[in-house]
Amino acid sequence: MRPRAIFLIGLPGSGKTTWVERYRPAPDQPFAVISTDRLIECEAAQLGVAYDQAYRRLASKKLAAEARRLTRAAVERGWDVVIDRTNLSAATRASFLRLFPPPYVRAAVVFAVPWAELERRLAARAEAGGHRVGVRALAVMAAIYDPPGEGEFDLVTYAQG
Ligand SMILES: Nc1ncnc2c1ncn2[C@@H]1O[C@H](COP(=O)(O)OP(=O)(O)O)[C@@H](O)[C@H]1O
Ligand SMILES: [Mg+2]
Repeated sequence: MRPRAIFLIGLPGSGKTTWVERYRPAPDQPFAVISTDRLIECEAAQLGVAYDQAYRRLASKKLAAEARRLTRAAVERGWDVVIDRTNLSAATRASFLRLFPPPYVRAAVVFAVPWAELERRLAARAEAGGHRVGVRALAVMAAIYDPPGEGEFDLVTYAQG
């Protein structure tokens, strides 16, 4: 079977990581999950600081570079790869898409969730001790969203986030 590169596309709180937790490929198909949040959490644990502090210390360029390094390592092994980042702009997606040569199947899963529901979920997540994403930060991210373009992916599906 051809290995798959699965790009999860959605704002914080849209359900990407929840989707990953339920993702079950064929039992003999290993897969890597490339998650910005997980990288930040690892850094926070190593430094013994809070998520927000670790996030501020890690420049976003450095985070993306580390995510690409991990992606390349998985591609060398021919594993399925799930990119659990917001993947909102076509430009950032392109910087990851180019890491997947044939025979990779490039798939996108788009998470569209009503704004009020996003705010509700993010408030609940922060309340439960998760990291806080403010409404203003959410709006900035929403503004850079580019829907998947013609020919960008082999397959696009829309998840009920
Ligand atoms: N389909 C869903 N319906 C209701 N709540 C959901 C759904 N998917 C995720 N959530 C909740 O929304 C919050 C954010 O989900 P998460 O998967 O962490 O989003 P993301 O990874 O996109 O930031 C979590 O508290 C999660 O339990
Ligand atoms: Mg997540």
